[in-house]
Amino acid sequence: MALKKANILIVDDDYDMLELLQRHLKDLDFHSFKASSAIEAINILKYNSVDLLITDLQMPGIGGMELIKYADDHFPKLPKLVITGYPSIDGALNAIKSGALDYLVKPFTAGELKTSVEKSLPLETLKSERKNPENSASIVYAGIVGKSEKINQLIDIIERLKNNRATVLIEGESGTGKELVARAIHYKGSFAANPFIAVNCGAIPEDLLESELFGYKKGAFTGANENREGFFQAANGGTIFLDEIGNAPSNVQTRLLRVLQEKEVRKIGEHTAQKVELRIIAATNSDLKEMVKNGNFREDLFYRLNVVNIETPPLRTHASDIPLLAENFLRKYKKEYSKPRLEFSEKAIELLKSYNWPGNVRELENVIQRAIIMSEDIIDIDHLPSYLKYPVPEISSELKSLKEVERDYILKILASVDNNKTKAPEILQINRKTLREKLK
Ligand SMILES: Nc1ncnc2c1ncn2[C@@H]1O[C@H](COP(=O)(O)OP(=O)(O)OP(=O)(O)O)[C@@H](O)[C@H]1O
Ligand SMILES: [Mg+2]
Repeated sequence: MALKKANILIVDDDYDMLELLQRHLKDLDFHSFKASSAIEAINILKYNSVDLLITDLQMPGIGGMELIKYADDHFPKLPKLVITGYPSIDGALNAIKSGALDYLVKPFTAGELKTSVEKSLPLETLKSERKNPENSASIVYAGIVGKSEKINQLIDIIERLKNNRATVLIEGESGTGKELVARAIHYKGSFAANPFIAVNCGAIPEDLLESELFGYKKGAFTGANENREGFFQAANGGTIFLDEIGNAPSNVQTRLLRVLQEKEVRKIGEHTAQKVELRIIAATNSDLKEMVKNGNFREDLFYRLNVVNIETPPLRTHASDIPLLAENFLRKYKKEYSKPRLEFSEKAIELLKSYNWPGNVRELENVIQRAIIMSEDIIDIDHLPSYLKYPVPEISSELKSLKEVERDYILKILASVDNNKTKAPEILQINRKTLREKLK
C-alpha cells in the first residue's frame, strides 16, 4: 500500500515518548525521524522529505506552536498532528486554527494514534507522488539527489555506517555536498534524536576555536568569567561536524587527538575530563595527506579521523545526474519565486549537461536560481549565463601545444553553437574564411 512508506517526523522533549511513538509507528510500517527539540525538527525538515509532522506542544525553548508556524510558512502542504500532555482544549483549538489538522491527548492508545495518523496523511498526494519517479526514495535520500553509480555508492556507505559511531572523514571539492552527507549520516541514523552540531573550523578565529570546542572553567584565562560548556559537550550523544578541519590550529589538533583516543573532553583550565559518546565527522576540501607531509597537520590525528573515508564526487564524474539535480532545484525555488509553472526547455537541460561545473552542485544551484528569476514560463538557454555556452578552455595537467589548444577550443565553440558557421567566427573574432582554413 502506498501509504505505508510515509516518513513521519516526531517531536517531543520526552525521550521515552519519542521511543514509544517510534515503536507504534514502526508497527504500522511507517518510517520515523525523531527530534527532541524544535531546532532539531527544523533541521530534519530542511534536509529530508517528511510526509507528516507530529509534535508535542509544551517543549522548553521553541514550543510546538512556533514549530507549527514555521512549518506552515516553509512547508505549507505538510500535514501536522499535535500531541499534548495538557488536555487544555484551548491549546488544541489554537493548534488547529494555526494549521494543525488533528490533535491527540496523552495518554493515547496505539489505535487512536493509527486513526489520527491515517486521517492526517494526504493519501492522494502520496499515491500520485509515488508514481513520479523523481520523488521516489532512491533518488532523493536525505536531500542527496541523484541516481548515478557515484551517488548510489555514496548512499550505500551512509546506509552502512549510519547506526554506528565510527569517525568519518569526508573529502571532496567545494560544493560537492560534504555537509549534506554529514547531515544525512546523522539524520538517517539511530542517534538522529540527539544533537547535530556543525562547527566551521575555518570561520571561527583561531584563538576562540579551542574554547568554543572544548569549553572552559571559570578563571581559566582572562575573560573566562564563568564555566562554559563546549560544542563537544553540547553534541554529546549525537554528532559533531568539524568542517574545514584542515584549518584547525595545532593546539586544537592536539586536544582533538585526545578526544579521539580517550573518548573524553577536558575543559580548558579543568583537571578532570568528562566522558563523551558521540560521532565525529570531519570534512575538508584540502588535501590532508599533503598537509601531513608538509608538517601542517598531525599524522596521528589524520589516521584517527580517517577511520571511514568518504569522497564526495565532483559533478563532472556524475553528469548524468544534472537533469535530476536541475529539476530538483527548480522544484525547490519555483515555489519561493511564485512561478509554479516554470519548466526547462530541452536545450537548456542539454546546455546544463554539457558544461563542466568547476563550482559543482552549488554553482549549478546558483545558476538555476538565477534562471528562475530571469524567466517567465520556460527556462531557455538565454536565461542561463553565457559562460556556459562559451567556456574558457581549462588548463589541464596535460601539456598541450598552442595548436592543440586552439583546435580544441574551436571545436568546443562550434559545438556550443550547434555548428553554426556564422556564429562561431563571431565569437572567435576571426573571419569565416580563416575558420574554414583552420578546420581543414
Ligand atoms: N547530491 C546533491 N543533491 C542535492 N543537492 C546537493 C547535492 N550535492 C550538493 N548539493 C547542494 O549543493 C550545495 C553545496 O553543498 P554542501 O554545502 O554540502 O557542499 P560542501 O562540499 O560542504 O561545500 P564547501 O566545500 O563549499 O563547504 C548545497 O546547497 C547542497 O544542498
Ligand atoms: Mg561545506
